[in-house]
Amino acid sequence: MPAKSTRDHYGSIAITIHWLSALLIIILLVSGFRAASTVDPTAKAQALSVHAPLAILILLLTLARIVWWWFADNRPDPIAAMPGWQDFSARAVHVLFYVVILGMTASGIGMFVLSGAADIVFGATDAQLPDFTKYKPRAPHGIGARAMIALFILHAGAALYHHFIKRDGLLGRMWFGKK
Ligand code: HEM
Ligand code: HEM
Repeated sequence: MPAKSTRDHYGSIAITIHWLSALLIIILLVSGFRAASTVDPTAKAQALSVHAPLAILILLLTLARIVWWWFADNRPDPIAAMPGWQDFSARAVHVLFYVVILGMTASGIGMFVLSGAADIVFGATDAQLPDFTKYKPRAPHGIGARAMIALFILHAGAALYHHFIKRDGLLGRMWFGKK
């Protein structure tokens, strides 16, 4: 299948970035809540040693995605028979995903830089992990996490609604296929 999107199907690059990002975000939500909810310092450091590098990966992937859409590829046309408000809401959710991903990576990096946690998480020193709630970026990071879950439910719910109820092939055009 072509690397670039056509008028009715996403291309292999957009599809690969999309599903890789979705997988990474699920792992980030799980590891983030795990880190925040445990009182065991070793388990917290372990969760963060997965969380932080994968978050940097999603940042790089998102920047690559923006560059790809901006300079190399064009989105397929909206699916036929989709009312204008649905197309608008879908686009708004897509843009909000980008905003929340960039905001979460910025606030996460902010927490690490301000608290000096990187050296502790990656074993350069034996010092105690800081109480992240003492640092300003912690609150927006928590709000962003909930916003991400809300967007995820709206977005995946809409995709499944199109797939199982409307049966209009929307999900199929975001999957590797013959077109
Ligand atoms: C947090 C995880 C996810 C994020 C951040 C995300 C983000 C996006 C974005 C930004 C787009 C617009 C195209 C692009 O920029 O690549 C998109 C399209 C799409 N996503 Fe997701 N997505 C996620 C998870 C899912 C899941 C779980 C499903 C299915 C259940 C799904 C189904 C789709 C479909 C079908 C499209 C194409 C919509 C169309 O043709 O207009 N996504 N997604
Ligand atoms: C899209 C990217 C990211 C997502 C989806 C994400 C997700 C999460 C979630 C769900 C939580 C738990 C929130 C809560 O309980 O209120 C969390 C906490 C945290 N995340 Fe992230 N995160 C991201 C990026 C980052 C980055 C880049 C870093 C650092 C380099 C980072 C470091 C942390 C830290 C230090 C905590 C707090 C742990 C604690 O309170 O003990 N995150 N993250």
